[in-house]
Amino acid sequence: MAEAQHCFSIDIRLAIGCPLVSHSAGESLMTTNLKGLVLSGGRGTRLRPLTHTAAKQLVPVANRPILFHVLDNLKNAGVTDVGIVISPETGNAIKETVGDGSSWGMSIEYITQSEPLGLAHAVKVAQPYLGSDSFVMYLGDNLIGSGIRNYREKFEAAAAPASILLKEVDNPSNFGIAEIDQHKRVIRLVEKPKEPKSNLALVGIYFFTSAIHKAISKISPSWRGELEITDAIQMLLNDGAEVLSDQVESWWLDTGKKDDLLTANTVVLDEWVKRQIDGEIDSKSHVTGRVRLGKGSRVVNSTVRGPVVIGDNVFVENSFVGPFTSIGAGCRIVSSVLEHCVLLENARIDHVDRLEDSLIGKNSAVVKEQKNHQAYRLMIGDDSEVLL
Ligand code: DAU
Repeated sequence: MAEAQHCFSIDIRLAIGCPLVSHSAGESLMTTNLKGLVLSGGRGTRLRPLTHTAAKQLVPVANRPILFHVLDNLKNAGVTDVGIVISPETGNAIKETVGDGSSWGMSIEYITQSEPLGLAHAVKVAQPYLGSDSFVMYLGDNLIGSGIRNYREKFEAAAAPASILLKEVDNPSNFGIAEIDQHKRVIRLVEKPKEPKSNLALVGIYFFTSAIHKAISKISPSWRGELEITDAIQMLLNDGAEVLSDQVESWWLDTGKKDDLLTANTVVLDEWVKRQIDGEIDSKSHVTGRVRLGKGSRVVNSTVRGPVVIGDNVFVENSFVGPFTSIGAGCRIVSSVLEHCVLLENARIDHVDRLEDSLIGKNSAVVKEQKNHQAYRLMIGDDSEVLL
C-alpha cells in the first residue's frame, strides 16, 4: 500500500537550491550515516475521536498520511536508515501502511514503545537500534514547508552534540520553548512553560549525536509524567555542551489538532497539487484550477474548484466542492457544498447545504434530513453516522 511518488515540490525545489556541497568532485559534506528516528507512538488525544481508532500520524494531509510527508523529507535529506517508534495500539496500522520503506528507497525498522512515556523515553527504547550513530529525530505529526538537508549539513559540519530547530509561535505555553542569547546561542529550554520567557518553540525535528543517551539517563519524568527530550537537551547545556539552533523560515505545523490539520491540508494543497484528471467529468460539470481527480472517480453535474484532491473511486453529483478540500478514496458526495474539508476514505455526504472547516472520519456518513439551510463545521470520527 505504501507509495512515495508524490513528494513535496517545495522539497524538490529546496534540494535543487541546496545541492550537496562538495569539497572535491562528488564528495559530500554528509560523511556520516545519519540515521532517522521517527516518533509515531503516543496517544493522539487531541485529534479524538478520529484517533480513537487510528494513529494520528496516518491522518491524511492532501490525501497522503502525514507520516508519508515526514518520510519524503527524510529521504530528500539523504537519510535512508530509519527507525519508526510505534505504540502497541496503532503500530500494526502504521506498519501496514508504510511497509519496509522500499517505496522510499529506505530501510525501515519498527521499534515498539510499550507506553507513551515521553519523547526521551522513545529514544531510550530506540537505543539498541541507534547504537552509537548520530541521528535526526522527527516527530511523526510535524510538517514543515522546507527540506532539512541544509540543517543536516550544518549539524554534521559542527562538533555540537545537538542541533534544534526553532520557530516563533503565538501560543508558547503549548510547546517546548528556547531562550537564546544575542549570538543566537541556546541558553535555556523549558517544556510547555506556564510563563514563557520567549516565543521560540522547538520544532519537532532534532539532530543528536550519541551523547544524548547519557543526558537522557540523567533526567527524571516531568510534571506530566513524561521523560522530556527538552529536559535531556537542557541537561547537555547544564553539562557545558553547545546546542546549535536554526530558525525555520518556512511554515511549520504540529498537526495534533483539527484546526492545525486543516491548515496543514490547505498549505500542502496550495503548494503541491497540480492538475491531473484520471477520472470522468460529465458535460454539465465545471472542474477548474489545480484539481487531482483519481481513477474511477466521476463528477456529475457539479463544480469543483481547486486546489482540491479527490482520490480514486469517488462519486460527486449535484454538488460544489470548493478550494482546499481533500476527499479520500471511495467517498460519495451528493447534493452538497463542501469547502476547506478533509474527508477520509469512504465517507458519505448527502444533501448537506454547506460543510466547511470539517474533518470527517473513514466510513462515516453525514446526511441532512431537515429542510432548513445551514452551514456546519464538524469533526467526526471513523464509522459514524450523523443525521442533521
Ligand atoms: O511539535 C513540537 C513539540 O513536540 C515541541 O515543541 C515540544 O517540545 C515536544 O515535547 C513535543 O510536544 P507535544 O506535546 O506536541 O508532543 P506529542 O505528545 O504530541 O508527541 C509528538 C510525537 O511523538 C507524536 O507523533 C507522538 C510521538 N510520541 C509521543 C510520546 C509522548 C511517541 O512516539 N512516544 C511518546 O512517548
